[in-house]
Amino acid sequence: MQTVQDVAALRAVVRGWRSQGYTVGFVPTMGNLHAGHQSLIKLARARTDRVVASIFVNPTQFGPHEDFERYPRTLIQDQAGLAEQGCDLLFAPEVATIYPYGAAQTVSVHVPQITETLEGAHRPGHFDGVATVVCKLFNLLQPDLAVFGQKDCQQLKVIERMVRDLSLPVKILAAPTLRAEDGLALSSRNQYLSKEERELAPLVYVTLQQMRDLVSKGHAWPAVEQAATSKLAKAGFVPDYAVIRRADDLGVPARDQRDGLIGLVAARLGSTRLIDNLIFD
Ligand code: PAF
Repeated sequence: MQTVQDVAALRAVVRGWRSQGYTVGFVPTMGNLHAGHQSLIKLARARTDRVVASIFVNPTQFGPHEDFERYPRTLIQDQAGLAEQGCDLLFAPEVATIYPYGAAQTVSVHVPQITETLEGAHRPGHFDGVATVVCKLFNLLQPDLAVFGQKDCQQLKVIERMVRDLSLPVKILAAPTLRAEDGLALSSRNQYLSKEERELAPLVYVTLQQMRDLVSKGHAWPAVEQAATSKLAKAGFVPDYAVIRRADDLGVPARDQRDGLIGLVAARLGSTRLIDNLIFD
């Protein structure tokens, strides 16, 4: 697997593939790859002839007091993992390559409405940063297909809306969330957890399952949300939200809606913020 840092080299490789009639799949990441990322590569691999991954810790999607500085950067290890999964090319640009005028002066992509709630409400500007960098990466690569994890469910919806609204010629594929044996959704941020916090962390998924079960037994979702929030708080989490939304657009469901729902949780455990979701099938 080749690694390139600059745009000309990236475009030269992709142009070569295109001239041979190959389709191109893309998996954007911020690195520190785990089995969840590997599964995204595998999905792209199964659907396209050549696969590109990017590793870029994107400054514009982190708030001023978030973990941009301490976000784990593990390029050498990541390169080995990507090559093992059959990734063909890694794009690992510098900040100045992605933001030639500086991150603070970038043209920004704002996806309205869906970005105002949940993660968007708790992390102001986060989705502008995500949409902007993903739009730039799509323009640089022009992939046929790009794969995003269902774990960042709102991110996935934001990207889908951006692609449709800006008529970007790329198909978006959602990949199922990978979990540890105890149910904790895989995330690069899990490594911030202390031993005690790691033992407590699977309660997020347990709570989501209980929310689903209570709704399927006919409990009204506002009461289920309240019970979930206080359960997490009692266990030592600081919940940002534990809510039930419409699965298709993350809007607030009608009081008696039973189908097409999703549970979403974001909660802090010490200095680590965990997010997860579960579609209520
Ligand atoms: O999900 C991520 O890792 C990031 O938000 C993404 C999509 C790579 C954009 O920086």
